[in-house]
Amino acid sequence: MRVLILGGDGYLGWPTAMHLAARSQDVMVVDNYLRRTIAIQTRSEALITNPDLEQRAEIFQAASGKRIKTRIGDCTDFAFLDSVFREFKPEAVVHYAEQPSAPYSIRGYTEAELTLRNNLTTTLNVLWAIQKQAPDCHLVKLGTMGEYGTPNIDIEEGWIEIEHKGRKDRFLFPRQAGSLYHTTKILDTDLIWFYVRMSKLRVTDLMQGPVYGLSTPEADLDERLAPNFHYDDIFGTVVNRFLVQAVAGEPLTVYGKGGQIRGYLNLLDTLQCVQLAVDSPTKPGELRVLNQFTECFSVNNLADRVQKAGKSLGLRVEIEHVANPRKEAEEHYYNPAHSGLLDLGLKPHYMDESVLAAMLERIMLYRKNIDIAKIRPRVRW
Ligand SMILES: NC(=O)c1ccc[n+]([C@@H]2O[C@H](COP(=O)([O-])OP(=O)(O)OC[C@H]3O[C@@H](n4cnc5c(N)ncnc54)[C@H](O)[C@@H]3O)[C@@H](O)[C@H]2O)c1
Repeated sequence: MRVLILGGDGYLGWPTAMHLAARSQDVMVVDNYLRRTIAIQTRSEALITNPDLEQRAEIFQAASGKRIKTRIGDCTDFAFLDSVFREFKPEAVVHYAEQPSAPYSIRGYTEAELTLRNNLTTTLNVLWAIQKQAPDCHLVKLGTMGEYGTPNIDIEEGWIEIEHKGRKDRFLFPRQAGSLYHTTKILDTDLIWFYVRMSKLRVTDLMQGPVYGLSTPEADLDERLAPNFHYDDIFGTVVNRFLVQAVAGEPLTVYGKGGQIRGYLNLLDTLQCVQLAVDSPTKPGELRVLNQFTECFSVNNLADRVQKAGKSLGLRVEIEHVANPRKEAEEHYYNPAHSGLLDLGLKPHYMDESVLAAMLERIMLYRKNIDIAKIRPRVRW
């Protein structure tokens, strides 16, 4: 199958490209290095320096014998994206190419405008390129569990049936995000649903939780194939920040009360989920929404897990509660459904002590690169 990966230089995009190429898919990746550019501008560079996309593809080909085609360009440029679709004629598109940092989207007007314009224009352009060049192509779009927020009712997988004054209908589940970035994902979903209805497109929208992990069978072929690992307050997820703080001998900084519950998943499971979605395309005119995470826990629980894994390696790990820079519920009800991907065949890798210890050991190799000033919150809501 010809699979086009947009955002193929990213934390998820690069491992996905290697994973699919290793399984003999014909893979092309597109990226404009937006993430690398923003990281330099905000002093949020990754812990491990990664070669550029073309170098990564060459290293991967030497290590595996598999080729990944690369195109450097901006998906907000329709003429460029249209030409990529015309040339490659994808049968599936995995769309990761967005600005994914909530704090960055809150930082100021310039960052808000970039996030809104970049994310919605890339999605609009993908939908138009599919309509023009590959109408039967299946779009696998990365959304986020953050679209739902933390409602005081159970969260369904994308859709909810509502009975009102004796009549029933099915609607997208109510969504109320906690950042502008997450709001662009809601707007993406609405845009996609419009074009699915109008043009009978095939789409899977994956509502993903925070992903952790550095190791995949392909990334482990060569140290230079490692996924990007950000640990700062802008791009680093809470898991990465805690792990780096543990290695640096700094307290794990829990925002507020720490009762914020989220659904997490291992990078290996993102690869599985995307593969499962690609392998089971939706029907024309179907928008399938799947909640993509494997286990839910609170920030306090995560801090305890990292502390325990750190202790097993002889690290002294303390936990500190700091003023929450975000406007979010610090204690709340959270019960999201997530059976769709399990039904498709997902076999979860859970976050046990050995997984965290392996990540800590890997980070220890790069201890000298840690800049602790990058971790404490620099952006407030
Ligand atoms: N990593 C997570 O924990 C997580 C969780 C939920 C959802 N997601 C979603 O998954 C997707 C990928 O996330 P990630 O963590 O890999 O982010 P990332 O920033 O590492 O990857 C995104 C890639 O897209 C590229 N990109 C952005 N705009 C582009 C454009 N206009 N043209 C070409 N390339 C462009 C960036 O340069 C970057 O390499 C994002 O849409 C994100 O919202 C990620």
